[in-house]
Amino acid sequence: MLLCVILLALVRPLAISLKPCSLFSKTLRTRANIISTTSRYPSLRISASSPASSTETATAVSAVPSEMKAWVYGEYGGIDVIKFDSKVSVPEISEDQVLLKVVAAALNPVDGKRRQGKFKATDSPLPTVPGYDVAGIVVKVGSQVKNLKNGDEVYGNINEKALENPHQFGSLAEFTAVEEKLLALKPKNLDFSQAAGLPLAIQTAYEGLERTGLSAGKSVLVLGGAGGVGSLAIQGSQIRR
Ligand SMILES: NC(=O)c1ccc[n+]([C@@H]2O[C@H](COP(=O)([O-])OP(=O)(O)OC[C@H]3O[C@@H](n4cnc5c(N)ncnc54)[C@H](OP(=O)(O)O)[C@@H]3O)[C@@H](O)[C@H]2O)c1
Repeated sequence: MLLCVILLALVRPLAISLKPCSLFSKTLRTRANIISTTSRYPSLRISASSPASSTETATAVSAVPSEMKAWVYGEYGGIDVIKFDSKVSVPEISEDQVLLKVVAAALNPVDGKRRQGKFKATDSPLPTVPGYDVAGIVVKVGSQVKNLKNGDEVYGNINEKALENPHQFGSLAEFTAVEEKLLALKPKNLDFSQAAGLPLAIQTAYEGLERTGLSAGKSVLVLGGAGGVGSLAIQGSQIRR
């Protein structure tokens, strides 16, 4: 029997030393109370809207404000560079994007590497709102958006390429702008926090399984199987059997 070994750290060249938390997601209401600070980004200043809730429904979405609460860093460095800012401009959307009211967001190893400046040569400009993974509600659609509408509950990884010009305004905010093609409707049997914990980790696990050429009858050894990517690789391998 062929033994397929998935070396998850090699799936993408993102060897991360930050303690990952791809399945760790919290609502912004929880996180928003951790740090309160005066904004250091005058160009982003604008007023906060009410906090999102994991029980929020499409009908509860209110009008889009011009300002929002967000986690922001204006320089690369350790965890201390991240500040809470209640006056960040709500991002504008382009024609292929939707604006999401963020209900839950999750962090991955890449967020820590990015904050440390490990790929600043290809990063978007500072200041940065971190966060790739998101689950939320569509509150505005661009003119070229075809398959999503206001009120849709969606989830996804907002960056098509992790290291190349990721969105400056990520998911650790009340609102984030995302290309329609990067989102999917949230399964009804997942709540927002569960959905936000999936995108990047499950993409990585899926890619790993694809690269092994796994098929029925073959065995797979998943290293780090208790982790975010590993646990999804194990589950994915069962689906493919
Ligand atoms: N999450 C993503 O979206 C993503 C994307 C691209 C690449 N990656 C890479 O994929 C790998 C896994 O990421 P993850 O998000 O799944 O991390 P994670 O949730 O922290 O899981 C890491 C797993 O590896 C185990 N582990 C750590 N050090 C070990 C060691 N010295 N010997 C044996 N097992 C060890 C951990 O065991 P314990 O639980 O016992 O500590 C845990 O089960 C990382 O290299 C990451 O950079 C992740």
